Amino acid sequence: MEIIRKPKRMTAWVNSQAALGKTICLVPTMGYLHDGHLALVRKGCEWADHVVVSLFVNPIQFGPGEDLDSYPRSFERDAALSEKVGASVLFSPEAIDLYPKGFQTTVTVKGLTSGLCGGSRPHHFDGVTTVVAKLFHIVKPHSAVFGQKDLQQLAVIKKMVSDLNWDIDILGHPIVREADGLAMSSRNSYLNEEERLKALCLHDAIQFARKKVRAGSQNAASLEEDIECRIRGCNGVVIDYVSIVNAETLQKCSVINNDSVLALAVKIGRTRLIDNGFLKAEA
Ligand code: PAF
Repeated sequence: MEIIRKPKRMTAWVNSQAALGKTICLVPTMGYLHDGHLALVRKGCEWADHVVVSLFVNPIQFGPGEDLDSYPRSFERDAALSEKVGASVLFSPEAIDLYPKGFQTTVTVKGLTSGLCGGSRPHHFDGVTTVVAKLFHIVKPHSAVFGQKDLQQLAVIKKMVSDLNWDIDILGHPIVREADGLAMSSRNSYLNEEERLKALCLHDAIQFARKKVRAGSQNAASLEEDIECRIRGCNGVVIDYVSIVNAETLQKCSVINNDSVLALAVKIGRTRLIDNGFLKAEA
């Protein structure tokens, strides 16, 4: 596996592979890789001749007071893991090369970014779409894989790609969970033992909601209330949102149907966690 730092070298590598007729899949990450990321790389390997894993803690998607400085980093380990699961390149640019002095351009997707995480993290998705657009230009992938844990991010990136007529297949990968149901996330490393237990309220809420739906609940607003009530019973968990939305449009559902997803965000101590699940899927 090659480690490439400079965008121009990355593009030159991609061009040399394109000349050989090879396909490229990009797996964008902020590093501190876990099994969820590795599943994305494995999926990429099934789709393309080469997988490029990008590793970049993107400063412009963090708001003031968020965890940019404390975001966990482990370059050597990430490089070893990426190589082990089959990546051809680890592309790890410096911030100065992506955002040189005087950088003025951002990419914005409007409607889809206004609720859910966009509601509590203003400008976050502008940061995500801007960096992903830049990565797409540098790596020129035929496909890219994103985790479904970031439900809104996936919807926003699909919209950006379709609105900008990019010929890139955007693939979603199902959430990878720990044995006890906690969705894998680099931010889980912030949790102490007690908080780690409390974090199970997210998966529990999804299971609870699915059970209610199986038992006949159809009214999304009243189910949201029941879920909020259940999460509030978990001491020290602060709800950001509990929202039943259409998986693609992210619009609120009134009646639960096959496309309804329960989207959740909570804060436990200083850690913000998200999770989601289709309500009519099997538990
Ligand atoms: O999901 C992430 O880790 C980030 O938002 C992404 C897509 C790598 C952009 O920085």
